[in-house]
Amino acid sequence: MNFAELFNRTGLIGAHRGARSIAPENTLRALKVSVGHCDFMEVDVQLSSDGVAIVMHDDTLERTTNVSEIEEYKNRKPYNVSDFTFEELSSLDYGSWFDGKIEPLLTLSEALQFIKENRVFLNIEIKDMHKSFSDEQVVLLVLKEVEEWNVEELVMFSSFRHEYLPLCKERLPDVITAALVEDTHPNNLMEYLKSLHVDGYHMNDELADKESVQKLRLAGFFVNVYTVNDPFRAQELFEMGVNGIFSDFLT
Ligand code: G3P
Ligand code: MG
Repeated sequence: MNFAELFNRTGLIGAHRGARSIAPENTLRALKVSVGHCDFMEVDVQLSSDGVAIVMHDDTLERTTNVSEIEEYKNRKPYNVSDFTFEELSSLDYGSWFDGKIEPLLTLSEALQFIKENRVFLNIEIKDMHKSFSDEQVVLLVLKEVEEWNVEELVMFSSFRHEYLPLCKERLPDVITAALVEDTHPNNLMEYLKSLHVDGYHMNDELADKESVQKLRLAGFFVNVYTVNDPFRAQELFEMGVNGIFSDFLT
């Protein structure tokens, strides 16, 4: 089964940032502990200042690394990821903030090797990097890793920066894509999604209601909702026809 076929089903669980309730988010440890406890995994991907695709959620390093404890970096506030080279990012610890255990940087390349070896599906959320890189550069640098590992059937791209999505589809037409939204639905939603050539729609839980979910499903889009940590709400969403939820808590 490829990733697209998975979304013929409902009741799917996506491990949000790995399994961030039991491991430091967006690390290899988080991916490892979620194997066998989800239908797919989700990670956030951005670029170092020298263009290496790495796995990290926040735009800044303070919350999920030890950057603020390192003397050498004390003048680098607010610690924007996009201001740090790959070598500098590799020198940080991504686990101690969570449970005191050191964890190295996870690169997109390592994450792809992991999903290839374990045959698991991965949603690559491409963070909005338009302030530092052109849309074409971002898509090129992220997609070339997927092509190098030859894992097109195991990945899905999503982004809040919708400009990336048609570029992804243009370069890798068989890879599924989804538009992410947070506060409001775009105007003329179905037409808009068709214009982006996406396969799915990822919305914030607060936006999800029966009417919008049914319209989207009828129009042929898969629908996933984030971040849902309440099992009763998850059940309600699945009954509306939602395909999957992103959750921090896995069973
Ligand atoms: O991709 C779903 C979800 O991860 C979007 O929100 O901020 O957790 O990346 P965020
Ligand atoms: Mg995300």
